[in-house]
Amino acid sequence: MNDQVKQAIAACAAFINGRSDAMALPPEAAEFVYTLVRATGAKRGVEIGTSFGYSGLHIGAAIAENGGTLTTIDVLPSKTEAAQKYFAVAGLTETIRCETGPAIEILNRLEGSFDFVLNDADKVNCIPYVEALMPKLTRGAVVLTDNSITHAKELAGFVAWARACPELQSVHLPIGNGFEMSVRK
Ligand SMILES: C[S@@+](CC[C@H](N)C(=O)[O-])C[C@H]1O[C@@H](n2cnc3c(N)ncnc32)[C@H](O)[C@@H]1O
Repeated sequence: MNDQVKQAIAACAAFINGRSDAMALPPEAAEFVYTLVRATGAKRGVEIGTSFGYSGLHIGAAIAENGGTLTTIDVLPSKTEAAQKYFAVAGLTETIRCETGPAIEILNRLEGSFDFVLNDADKVNCIPYVEALMPKLTRGAVVLTDNSITHAKELAGFVAWARACPELQSVHLPIGNGFEMSVRK
């Protein structure tokens, strides 16, 4: 990760510090996501839930180093605008494409295939989001669904669905707020 990205992450972290509407990944979880995307070599990423761009900076940095692109989605235009400023500070404007609107509508019209997904928006729609992406996921694509520890009750249905889904291999990762890590078979 280069110094320009590190500076953008520090600025974003200072901005979201104490903001209850940021709901960002904890730093150790964001660093794990960066490392995972680098390790897998993912080049076509989707993030559901941009917020102020904290996780997007980590995913975008790794995907840029892999030579790919990231589409990040949030329903709130004010958050997209704020995140875009940090992506610009990081030098990731060419790598990260922001989409604003209800995630299900955007996911349904996304074209192409994807090899990494961070599923981190409204927990009630986690299953429809992955179902919408399923035909577009490459074999071995990783879907990280956040908050499996902090929102265990809300995500119980998703976790049960993912573990029973014949197209996925899914496992709990006790990192940060908890991830359910699902791999497309
Ligand atoms: C947990 S936050 C994302 C945090 C971000 N991934 C990070 O770590 O910095 C969830 C975001 O999902 C957005 N969101 C909620 N419902 C949505 C929907 N139906 N479509 C798109 N975005 C949605 C919220 O506006 C919020 O910014």
